[in-house]
Amino acid sequence: MKHFLSLKDYTREEILDILKLSIEIKNSFLNGQKIIPNFKDKILAMIFEKSSTRTRISFEAGAYQLGGSSIFLSSKDIQLGRGESIKDTARVISSMVDMIMIRTFEQKRIEEFAEYSSVPVINALSDEFHPTQLIADYLTMIENGISMDISANYSQHKIVRKPIVCYIGDGNNMANSWLFLASKLGFELRIATPKGFEPISEFVNIATKETNAKINITNNPKEAINNANVVTTDTWVSMGQEEDKNIKIKAFKGFCVNNDLMRLASKNAIFLHCLPAYRGYEVSDDVIEGSQSKVFQEAQNRLHAQKGIMSFLGEKNWKK
Ligand code: CP
Ligand code: NVA
Repeated sequence: MKHFLSLKDYTREEILDILKLSIEIKNSFLNGQKIIPNFKDKILAMIFEKSSTRTRISFEAGAYQLGGSSIFLSSKDIQLGRGESIKDTARVISSMVDMIMIRTFEQKRIEEFAEYSSVPVINALSDEFHPTQLIADYLTMIENGISMDISANYSQHKIVRKPIVCYIGDGNNMANSWLFLASKLGFELRIATPKGFEPISEFVNIATKETNAKINITNNPKEAINNANVVTTDTWVSMGQEEDKNIKIKAFKGFCVNNDLMRLASKNAIFLHCLPAYRGYEVSDDVIEGSQSKVFQEAQNRLHAQKGIMSFLGEKNWKK
């Protein structure tokens, strides 16, 4: 069974296949063609143990647009929220639907769920990773003419720049995911966090060893952003960490992506943020509203990326 649990488990070719599918499906959809690669009459179950706007809407709309349907399951409404085990939940739900996405806390909950599921499982965010977001982010980079050689073939741009990605902020699920995207595709990544908030060192070690990508972890945002062509950040307070808010606001002083920092990036750099954004904290209002910001293109690309991921898993797992 092929699942989509983290980019760590994926090869470069598989990531490129998903991107290619996402672009093909996006283009056909925007040209008014309804293409239904393999999802017709399939059912996606969507389990949420944390809140969501973009992920929920994009999976729900995406499953429908591929010819299938979806069931939204908040953990408050199902027995999982009252202590039913992951393994029983996985066996029961997977016996009735064709694919499952789950947003939860520890990655090991998703891994246990996948172990007991008889259908493909998608990680729709865990404390450690947010892999579906990274497909949409890289798709947005390709559309803005920033991509590695092989993925440049999917770009409409004649001139394509090699990514120099700078992530400034918390070493969280987004930072960990950027590590593996850079590692697999082989692009330069610089991550700047305050001391003590670096991404998980085991992930840094694996990502750095497995690649010839240049990966640099620093506590200096000015050094990290120098000449970068993609600047990105994320909330300082991820879901489930609300208690740490005040400590983090103090620790993250100097890590707000504002115009003073953006001026140090490449002149044509783009700004990405997975959203939701907290203006005045991880990003200033003028940067997120400015001309370099592609955050709403990125958010809309979630829809196309989810369809790419679901079609990819359908192709891998279902008989033709
Ligand atoms: N970026 C993202 O995953 O947004 P939601 O939490 O709204 O789904
Ligand atoms: N790091 C954030 C991402 C939200 C999409 C969180 O986990 O809350």
